[in-house]
This record gives sequence, C-alpha cells and structure tokens, in this order.
Amino acid sequence: MPAYKLISFRSLRMALRFVLPLAFALTLLAYAVVPLVDKLTLRWFVRDLDIRSRLITDTLQEPLEDLLVLGEKGKINSLLTRAIKDERLLALGYCSPEGTLQYRTANFPDSLSCSPPRNPAGKTKHLLRLSRGLVHIAYDPLDNEQGLTGSLLVIHDMSFVERRSTDTRNYVILLFAVLGIVTSLITVFVAHLSWRGWMEGVRAMLRGEGLVKPFSNPANSELQPLVGDLRGLLRSLDAERRLADDATITWSPESLRGLLHKQLAGERVIVVSNREPYIHINTPDGIIVNRPASGLVTAVEPVMRACSGTWIAHGGGSADRETVDRHDRVGVPPGHADYTLRRIWLSAEEEAGYYYGFANEGLWPLCHNAHVRPVFRSSNWAQYVAVNQRFAEAVVKEADSDDPVVLVQDYHFALLPGMIRKQLPKATIITFWHIPWPNPESFGICPWREELLKGLLGSTILGFHTPFHCKNFLETVDRYLETRIEQESSTIFHRGKLTLVESYPISIQWPPPWQATQATVDECRLSVRRSLGVNPDHLLGLGVDRLDYTKGILERLRAVENMLERHPSMIGHFTFVQIAAPSRSALEEYQAFDARVRALAERINQRFSDGAYQPVCLKVEHHEPEDVNRYYRATDVCMVTSLHDGMNLVAKEFVAARDDERGALVLSQFTGAAHELHEALIVNPYHIEQTADALYHALTMPLFEQQERMRSMRSLVRDFNVYRWAGRMLIDAARIRQREKLSARIGRPV
Ligand code: G6P
Repeated sequence: MPAYKLISFRSLRMALRFVLPLAFALTLLAYAVVPLVDKLTLRWFVRDLDIRSRLITDTLQEPLEDLLVLGEKGKINSLLTRAIKDERLLALGYCSPEGTLQYRTANFPDSLSCSPPRNPAGKTKHLLRLSRGLVHIAYDPLDNEQGLTGSLLVIHDMSFVERRSTDTRNYVILLFAVLGIVTSLITVFVAHLSWRGWMEGVRAMLRGEGLVKPFSNPANSELQPLVGDLRGLLRSLDAERRLADDATITWSPESLRGLLHKQLAGERVIVVSNREPYIHINTPDGIIVNRPASGLVTAVEPVMRACSGTWIAHGGGSADRETVDRHDRVGVPPGHADYTLRRIWLSAEEEAGYYYGFANEGLWPLCHNAHVRPVFRSSNWAQYVAVNQRFAEAVVKEADSDDPVVLVQDYHFALLPGMIRKQLPKATIITFWHIPWPNPESFGICPWREELLKGLLGSTILGFHTPFHCKNFLETVDRYLETRIEQESSTIFHRGKLTLVESYPISIQWPPPWQATQATVDECRLSVRRSLGVNPDHLLGLGVDRLDYTKGILERLRAVENMLERHPSMIGHFTFVQIAAPSRSALEEYQAFDARVRALAERINQRFSDGAYQPVCLKVEHHEPEDVNRYYRATDVCMVTSLHDGMNLVAKEFVAARDDERGALVLSQFTGAAHELHEALIVNPYHIEQTADALYHALTMPLFEQQERMRSMRSLVRDFNVYRWAGRMLIDAARIRQREKLSARIGRPV
C-alpha cells in the first residue's frame, strides 16, 4: 500500500476514534442532560413564581379587603384588572372564605374554581396545562387579625418558561454540534500531521538520522521526549546483541567465516592496504617470499585467510611483477592460496610523494607524539590524492557487486573511503586507522585536514584501537567540519551519510600459526644463546621493532645502560638483543635514527664489554616471523618501550609465544596494548631509571610471579584475538547494512 494511503487511513481512523465518542456524548446530551436541565429550571421558576404570587397577594391584600368591606364591586374588578397588566400575570380571582369565586379577571380560565386541582397523591398542583399553555396557580390565603378573609388565585403564564427552555436546548445542541464538527476537523488535521511527523521521525531514526535530526528540526519537536527513550532502547538492544554475540562466540577462523556467511550473506571482502602481505624478492638463489614487519599485516593476514576475497596492495617487491597473472593477481599464501593478492604498481614519483612523502613524512609524525616534526608539501599531497584515486578504481574493478564489503587500512588511505563511496554508494566501508589519532590542535597543522576528514567520513565504520583515539577523532571533526555528531552513540552525520566511530583493539592470531611446528622453549633458549655465544643460563632481554623513531629504541638502550650501571652484577650475565627491521630507509629522519641507534649500542658495548661479552646485540635486518618467534621463546624479558603506538602487537606476540608461562614483559604506558595487558610491567619510557628498574625487576622476577602474570595475559590475548577484532567490526557492519536496507524499504528510496 502506498505510504500516503497508509497515512490518510490511519489519520481517519484516529479521527474516528474521537468523533464517535463525541457523537455518543451529544446524543446523551440531547436525551438525558437537556431534559434534566429543563426540569431543574422549571423547579427554579415555580419557586420564583410562588414567591412572586405571594408578593402580589401581599400588595393587593389591604386595598382588596377595604373594598370588600365597602362592597365596591366595580373598584374591586378594576383593582384586579390593573394588577394583571404585568405581562406574565395571566389572571386573578378572589374566592370568598366559603370557597366561592366572587371576582375574576376577564381571562380567568373557566376550568378553574376555588378548590385547587390535586395530583393522584392528593397534593395541590401548582402547574396546569390548559388550552392556552402551561400556567402556574397560587392559592394564597388572605388573613388578618379578624381571621381568614378569603383567598387570592394568582395565575401566571408559564409559556415563556417553555419558550426559554426550548431555545436553550436548541442553543446547547447547536453549540455542541458546531464544537464537535470543529474539533473533529482539527483532530483529523492534527492526527494527519502528527502521524506524518511520527512516521518521518521513526523512519529517520531507523535510518540513523533520527539520532540527531529531531533535535535540530523544530517540526519534529513532539518526538523529542520520546526520541531519547527510543534511541536508548535501540542502543541497549544493539549493545545486548553485541554482547551476546561476543560472549557466545569462541573467536576462530571458522567462527569468523561463519559470521561472514550468516550476517553478510557470504560476501567476499576486499582489503586495501599499502603494505602487501607477501613480497616476492629476487635473490641470487632465485625468487624468495618475505613477510614484512608490519603490525597491520600481522593482524589482517589471518583474517583474510579465514574470509578469503581480494587484498589490494602496493606491489613493492623486486620480483612482484614476475609472480602475478595478467590481471596483476597472485594467489596467496604461496603454495596454499586462500585468497587473492591484487598488486598495484606505483612509479618512483608516486611512491616518493604518496608513501614516503605525505604518508610517512607528514601523517606518521603528525599522529605520533614522538617529537619529530611533520613535513607537508603540495607535490606530496597531489601524489597522495592520485594514488588514493588509483586504489579506488582498483576497488571498483575488484568488486563483484554494487555493495561490497571493503576493509580500508591505515593512514595511507584517508581519502579512499570517500572516493569509493562516490563510485559505489551502497558499499560497506570499514576503515581501520592503525596508528594513534592526535588531538585537534596537533591534527590542525595539516594543511589538508578538512579533505582528510571528509575522505574518512566516507566510511560506514571508522575504527581505532582505543576509545581515546575515537574521542580525539570526534573532537577533530567537531573542530574542523560542519557535521552533526552524536557523542553517545559515537556517530557522525555528514552529507546525508552516517559514520560509526568505534574502538576495536587489534590483536593477533590465536593459537599462533607455528604452535604445532615450533621448537620447545628449551631448544629455543639453547639455540639462541648458542648463536649469541653465551652460556645456557645467560639472561636475555629482547626488543623487536621496525627501526622507527616512535618505538623508543634509544630510550630502551639507555635503560639497559642504566640498569647495568646500577646493577653491575648483571654485567657479563645479561645481553639485550634488539631486532630492528630496516624501515623507510629512504627518509632522512630514518637514516639519522638508524645512525643514532647504532652509535648508542656501540657506546654501551664499549662501556661494558669484556672480552667476547657485549651487553647489546643489535640486529638491523629482516627476520621472518618464525625466527622472531624463536627469540620470543628464548628470552627472559621482552621490552616494548614505544613513545607512542596505536596498539603494538609485539607485546601480544611475545605473550602468545610463551606457552611455558615464563618470561616478563616491560611495556610502555603509551601503547594501546598497555590498556589491555595490565599484568605487564608498565613503564614511562621517557623515565630512564624507572624503565631500568622495571628491566631489573623483570630479570629477577620469581617464577610464580612470571607464571601468574603470563597466564592472565595469555588468556586475554586468547579471548581477544584478531578474529574477534574483525568479527566485531563485521557484526557492526552487518547491523548497519540491515538498518540501511530496512530504512530503504520503509522510507524514501535511499
Ligand atoms: C605501521 C603501520 C602499517 C605499516 C607498518 C610498517 O604498523 O601502521 O601501516 O605497514 O607500520 O610500515 P611500512 O612503511 O614498512 O609499511
């Protein structure tokens, strides 16, 4: 049924609900209330006329008695005739004490005599209906000191009472009829408007707009008191559903796959990131495959293996072109293709401007509090825009429907959500920002801040690691864009589109991929120590990072130095291994950082080395994940001392590697991981002595304490694994998709 018919039918029904009771009330009024009022008015009139008659009698008594004594018949008649000149007084008659009608005025009714008419109960009737109408009769005795001198019959015309009563009844009925009609019309009108308003409001709310619209639209003001309640109800239902979903699911590749089939009708997902999960490299021994040091890849790759689909990324490896098909696609993982990797080729200029320039010289330092100043150049921005556009076109080509599920990754693609949205308006775009989001002042120094924010608001969901980053983002949007922000539900309404801003702490695969094949902890301990040339009981500390100034590597080495200074007993018995994957080495800032790290390590080694012993072992080279896992299992302490980090998955990987429940974690308070791994030794990496103390505490930590802490951290990483991270985002996306479909069905076409 068309919406407008539905509306008028409902309006009519609402109006009828009012009109019918009104008609009933009118009938009641006409047949019960008006007669009752008549009766009452009549009684009041009778009482009035009784008093009036008595007054007339009292006035006439004296002259009448005088004339009676004198026997002046003519004068008596003229006295009575003069008296009835009053318009309501109909007739007068005088009865002698013996009960004879001696005098009467001209129009005295013939049917009346001196004996008063009586009703069946024997009572005197004061009202009588005669041929000329209703009359009131009073038999007033005339008495003085000598006794009864007769009685006066005072007859009043009552037709005026009847006339008045009829008039009043007509007026009342007319008044109520008019009132009824007017009220009905108003009711129909208001019901119609109000129903439309309600329908609009509810529809808007279902579309998600209602979360903000009624407050800004006075036309919907009647919804205001209810919007909060309704919204609260929807939110709590959502939250309950999410909780129920979360609580009942044991997150694994299978449950994630099941979720995709159940909630998203088996959609194949499209992932977009700059860094590719598998890099083919030419070596003298032939082509090899590398897995990059990237938290993003660590997290998203197992999700892709579970979900299948297409991962679009920059093909940066020297043998990448040789390994793709003619559509630039290659099945990965190599030898066991679970999903497709679609490579995008970038020219040297594009890579320099978009990746090194805008993303890593501009946005990376902009978003991290590491005291490195961002650099913004127009030429870099132009490349950033162009490369985002190229990836958007690739997404459109790879999509096999007009509403694909696209997972956009990280700061390399802030513009991509908006660009995809333009070409595929119905797409579900889940963007995840893997690094911190700064406060509005810090972000404000970017010359293209508005463009970046608008691009990101093309997303259906925008995810961050922590609620604090979400809050920073909402505040930034509030500061620089004209949008409607609903703080409670963490949504932003911009250009007719809603974006949910939510925190989804990222995690790692559980159980770890090498669980079944890895060497025992004892074997790892021995092999690593052997390779370092130290004793089997030698104490080890470990850092695993990209060689990046945000990771706090210098601070960490200073803490190692400080610990050795203050605990000389450790010299010769403790080595700190720093695995540092070379990163973004084309950038000056990274080259300088590399040099500073090497210089500091060398200085510490010179200071404490003794023969073959070196307290710091710096390994600036790429390590495959299995090899890093061997170090995790071999070490006594893992140090994660980032100056600022979205999450830092090294902390979680270390915990996951320790199925022996041993080893201690020193963790910077400025990482997302510190919000989850409370049993780590939390430090402020800028505070060298505090970090050194934590390192010493970790190295000397009793076994039971290590076990207690590790057990608790492992159970958290197990339950809050990366499948849950992806699953929660997909559940939210499915919910929003459902809501959009529903709103398209019941409301205006979207
Ligand atoms: C961080 C970023 C990722 C990036 C990784 C490695 O984790 O969030 O997007 O892939 O660093 O950096 P790279 O520049 O080598 O890709």
